[in-house]
Amino acid sequence: MPAFRAPRGTRDLLPADRPAWERLEALAADLARRYGYASIETPLFEQSAVFERGIGEVTDVVEKELFRVAPRTEEGEAWALRPEATAGIVRAYVQHGMHTLPQPVRVQLVGPMFRYDRPQAGRYRQFWQWDVEAIGDPGPGVDAEIVELGHRFYAEAGLSNVRVLLNSIGDSVCRPAYVATLVEYFADHRHRLPDLERRRLESNPLRLLDSKDPDMAELIAGAPRIVECLCDPCAEHFADVRSLLDAVGVPWRLEPSLVRGLDYYTRTAFEYYREGAEGQQQALGGGGRYDGLVELLGGKHTPAIGFALGIDRVVLALAEEHAAPPPAAHLAAYVAGADPSDVATRLRIVTTLRAAGVAARADLGKRRLARQLEQASRDGAHFAVIVGDELAEGQVQLRDLEAGTQRAVPEAELARELSRAERSHRHG
Ligand code: HAM
Repeated sequence: MPAFRAPRGTRDLLPADRPAWERLEALAADLARRYGYASIETPLFEQSAVFERGIGEVTDVVEKELFRVAPRTEEGEAWALRPEATAGIVRAYVQHGMHTLPQPVRVQLVGPMFRYDRPQAGRYRQFWQWDVEAIGDPGPGVDAEIVELGHRFYAEAGLSNVRVLLNSIGDSVCRPAYVATLVEYFADHRHRLPDLERRRLESNPLRLLDSKDPDMAELIAGAPRIVECLCDPCAEHFADVRSLLDAVGVPWRLEPSLVRGLDYYTRTAFEYYREGAEGQQQALGGGGRYDGLVELLGGKHTPAIGFALGIDRVVLALAEEHAAPPPAAHLAAYVAGADPSDVATRLRIVTTLRAAGVAARADLGKRRLARQLEQASRDGAHFAVIVGDELAEGQVQLRDLEAGTQRAVPEAELARELSRAERSHRHG
């Protein structure tokens, strides 16, 4: 056993793991470009109050899962690692007066989030999200755009069987009356409620619908449904979102008990699941509208919507579906030398190649030429550049390790020659 290990619930993403991740990061960046979502970065920690007020004090994420950071005494502020990105992005929107920009502000980021959760497969204490937000548009058009964008990510990543579970959770006009009905219902069954849920009946009754306790499943299934209690504007908004989703061909299913685990949501709420896995706890992603959050964090009333996808879970799902792993990074050239001790020349040549944009490696040890060439093959290099006596006349040997051919090339032409060969190799 090594003396030190990565903390429980965290993982090292080793070089063998990273290509699958990089592929998803590149897909996120490409979709962001196509859909017009600009990049944003916010700190990995914020004042705890940003999350307490934004996400809600009586939520699992804040009550049980927030990683609090002990402040240094001279700065008495309480901080926490971000459990999600939305609250921090909205804090930045307000802080930088982004309401003066053309609305909606469309932003996105990929980055690590931290939740002190019980670790298991697909549930980590440090995990990665692709987070996407459109701030300053009341919808319903942008709601459909956002739900479709998330759905497209899975499809283009190689998961064709992802379904959208959809609900509307109303707004400050219609939700209070619904919550009162819900409290009445659960109060009638108080004796069947686990302790935590009994407490939440007082503090945050909507959370009961989001309970992960298996004993709650039956009660939840029989609970009154919020979609049947929406006020006219919320009902109309929801009907529009559904027909727009149909118009863009996104398969969705109404899920009346879907309320999401964070308090800031209003109206549209959605989660993505693999077909057949809808009943399980592990959503591949989720999001919704949060028309009250900007105001809650000190800005003007601003409608907004967004989602976050769990990159870790997408990587796992792709592995389970046996999706072909992405090809390993391609090495164009390996610089080897007949004189094992002449490291300086090999280093000089490989540096020139790299400066010219060629992916190259050199043997920086003092092994015999035959060993160096074996290494070139093991590294998957397309070409070996062999430095010998002809260097005195400005020539090196260029060996095509795939074709098994070899010819002399002037050192000055090497970078151009390799770039040209690589281009025709890629396109040929
Ligand atoms: P969320 O549903 O809490 O929403 O998280 C979104 C996704 O992050 C989940 O569906 C899941 O795939 C992934 N995830 C959450 N916790 C873990 C974990 N412990 N380990 C691995 N993956 C996890 C939000 O975070 C909202 N901020 C989404 C949003 C953006 N709403 C509006 N804008």
